[in-house]
Amino acid sequence: MSHLNTESVIGVIGAGTMGAGIAQVAAKAGHPVLLFDAMDGAAERGKDGVAKGLAKLVARGKMSQQDVDALIDRIQVINSLNDMAPAALVVEAIVERLDIKQQVFGDLETICGENTILASNTSSISLTAIGARLQRPQNLVGMHFFNPAPIMKLVEVISGLDTDPAVADAIFALSAAWGKKPVHAKSTPGFIVNRVARPFYAEGMRVVQEGGTDFATMDALLKQCGGFRMGPFELMDLIGHDVNYAVTSSVFEAYYQDPRFLPSLLQLELVNAGHLGRKTGKGFYNYAAGAENPQPKTAADVAAPRQVTIEGDLGAAEPLATLIEQAGITVHRAESSNNACIRVGDATLMLSNGQFTTAHAAEIGNRNLVHFDLALDYSQASRIALAPGDHAEQSAVDAAVGLFQAIGKSVSLLDDIPGMAVMRTVAMLANEGFDAVNQGVCSEEAVDIAMQGGVNYPRGPLAWAQAVGLSTVLTVLENLAATYGEDRYRVSPLLRRKVAGGA
Ligand code: NAI
Repeated sequence: MSHLNTESVIGVIGAGTMGAGIAQVAAKAGHPVLLFDAMDGAAERGKDGVAKGLAKLVARGKMSQQDVDALIDRIQVINSLNDMAPAALVVEAIVERLDIKQQVFGDLETICGENTILASNTSSISLTAIGARLQRPQNLVGMHFFNPAPIMKLVEVISGLDTDPAVADAIFALSAAWGKKPVHAKSTPGFIVNRVARPFYAEGMRVVQEGGTDFATMDALLKQCGGFRMGPFELMDLIGHDVNYAVTSSVFEAYYQDPRFLPSLLQLELVNAGHLGRKTGKGFYNYAAGAENPQPKTAADVAAPRQVTIEGDLGAAEPLATLIEQAGITVHRAESSNNACIRVGDATLMLSNGQFTTAHAAEIGNRNLVHFDLALDYSQASRIALAPGDHAEQSAVDAAVGLFQAIGKSVSLLDDIPGMAVMRTVAMLANEGFDAVNQGVCSEEAVDIAMQGGVNYPRGPLAWAQAVGLSTVLTVLENLAATYGEDRYRVSPLLRRKVAGGA
């Protein structure tokens, strides 16, 4: 297969949001770039947009004017597809329609050389389907960038049924040479990121729909406790509810309506109302100037406890022991006969196990059980969620709140909701990641690289699940499945297999 180097001419078709960014990336890496758009003036506008963006980098001292000029000079606007002939690789970033993509690639096959690699930036169309109409489907591959292409590190290299592995490898190597983090994936609905990310939105909306808490509190928890850069609701507002809902719906349909990907009525209502998020000025939040938006629910101050007893090893939550000591609270350690817990005043605190706290409390015969949520890093988290059981006494709730406040956390009390906020989100992200691996879509490493490089997750979901303990994650998912009785929460066989194997 053709070896791509910086002398290789890179063609880019479609000079919109993605195409212009991809042209910039290729030109930055030193390639001569041919940029084409079917709409009159669009390619010039795309190139001008790149120049304007780079001028800002010059103003901030991040790039020299000389380098920018050279980069811009390497992007040549062409007015006919026929001028793509010299390209060693053509990346297509046009409208998301199978018939039009097939037509364009069909034309390119007659224009370009036999060894020219044809790549599509499609987010949702099967590479196998695009390739089906081509004479040389082996030369077609997915090269899926993330928006904004010059900034986001991930490139999903997608192989259709007929893609030559050497072609996929060449695009993988080229992406790495461009400073990207490429991953290989099989052409399947949503590829990696748009599949594995679904629970981030879906679980957030489930918690809100079931009255666990409101969206502002969920966003605060996912950020301040989960370490995500944005909460699911503000992120959906940014993406646009029409777009986000369409992606979820297309993945749901593509997997034969697997309930795992069930879209949310909460979001459909926003779409119905035309409240599409930032772009219309209103989504979950109101973006009108001076609009008042809900603040995360935060418990009022309660006195700090003097001492606690920690029974057993808290596992993922073990760093709490040190934090409690550092807050000047005496920590007694004790053996635990079964579940590890923190006893403070009248409260018994346990890391959420995916059950209702109320059900868990009844099971262990302790009405004053309070579940607490998972944190990415308990020492860094500035907020934590607590979910008391329905029959917990106020004194127990106060003791639990006082303890977490004493170690510097804002506390959000949730109505009893299985799996809480961060725990159920992370468990479901990991479950989906394991399922993608189990179904041969990609490697475990690829899942984590993809979610960190494509959507900025603070930690890959599989590495995160390992850190929490796979058996803990399995328990959470089993309890969610038992509580809801929905196939949506079924455990990935790969996770089961790993836990069975002693992982
Ligand atoms: P866009 O609407 O900003 O740009 C598309 C450009 O393609 C337009 O300038 C249009 O004139 C041109 N075009 C349409 N049909 C054409 C044809 N037959 N020949 C030549 N040019 C044609 O769209 P955007 O957002 O850049 O998306 C492009 C592709 O990238 C789609 O396949 C989309 O699914 C994919 N994608 C989009 C992402 C995003 O966040 N916007 C992220 C990753 C992939």
